[in-house]
Amino acid sequence: MSMKRVLSGIQPTSDSFHLGNYLGAVKQWVALQEGHDAFYAIVDLHALTIETEPALLRKRTLASAAQLIALGISPDRSTLFVQSQVPQHNQLGWLMECMAGFGEANRMTQFKDKSSKSGADSARVGLFTYPMLQAADILLYQADLVPVGEDQRQHIELTRDLAGRFNTRYGQTFKVPDGYILKTAAKINDLQEPTAKMSKSSGSAAGVIEIMDAPEVNAKKIKSSMTDAGSEVRFDEKDKPGIANLLTIHSALSGTPIATLEGEFAGKGYGDFKSAVAEVVVEYLRPIRAKALELLEDEKHLIDLLHEGAAKARSVASGTLENAYRNLGTVA
Ligand code: AMP
Ligand code: TRP
Repeated sequence: MSMKRVLSGIQPTSDSFHLGNYLGAVKQWVALQEGHDAFYAIVDLHALTIETEPALLRKRTLASAAQLIALGISPDRSTLFVQSQVPQHNQLGWLMECMAGFGEANRMTQFKDKSSKSGADSARVGLFTYPMLQAADILLYQADLVPVGEDQRQHIELTRDLAGRFNTRYGQTFKVPDGYILKTAAKINDLQEPTAKMSKSSGSAAGVIEIMDAPEVNAKKIKSSMTDAGSEVRFDEKDKPGIANLLTIHSALSGTPIATLEGEFAGKGYGDFKSAVAEVVVEYLRPIRAKALELLEDEKHLIDLLHEGAAKARSVASGTLENAYRNLGTVA
């Protein structure tokens, strides 16, 4: 029996991933390499839907690749590639735009949220067609599973609809993928505002643990995280959201169950607990950051690895695209 194929993508929109990206997404990507044929894309074309600075796009694409590898995505076991190096994404993207209805695309909540921020008139057309490009990302690889966060559920549904519609109209061409919503994935909250999710775009820099930040910086952020009322270390999301978030982080990184941690810190204060969390986070991230920095030192080697990934990706993607064109009746 052949292995199930997994595909996911992440945008290179920041210099560093944060702990939420890791625990909520990338950690599951790493786990899925086991027993699956995994394709992971750094979706730089999707990142163009907002204003970009060329030097930053390049830097962030390479930094994303280095971090993914440092976090455990193995370029030998998985196909790790940069989307723009596989032109079939744009090509199938157009076919998907021609399959999707305007009304259907107009119902995408991510477009509505993002475009309302800048004002609908100045939102890029690419932001509107983003979900059709995402459908192409997935369908090119005949993916069985698409591990993503809850916010991407609607885009996966659209992908399934477009694949089904194409298959019905033009003959079996695409595998209809299953979403793989990362429900059990830890949701990590902001350290300063522990009822909101950790995110680059909202909240303060002090609330976000960045993978590429210096260890002292992250230790300080944890030690000065928001302090809840009371003094007992107990998992209570309602009354103690800050402590609950720190317990989630500690447990996810150390592998110690939350109940055990509560026992260990019984009778100790928040100060001791925060120091322990800082220690766990810093020691967990230290080798990851070092590995990412080492990969970024040798840019040529890193780019070679990405070229190899793109070559593997193109060999799969070109077969699917050829089939789609043939079934559509284009003259080859
Ligand atoms: P973003 O860059 O915000 O689109 O996030 C990339 C991936 O990380 C998505 O799959 C998100 O579901 C996941 N993610 C982002 N922030 C968090 C968070 N605070 N907790 C858990 N997962 C997150
Ligand atoms: N839209 C996804 C996000 O914001 C990123 C993405 C692009 C993606 N193409 C994909 C995710 C294909 C899964 C599969 O997180």
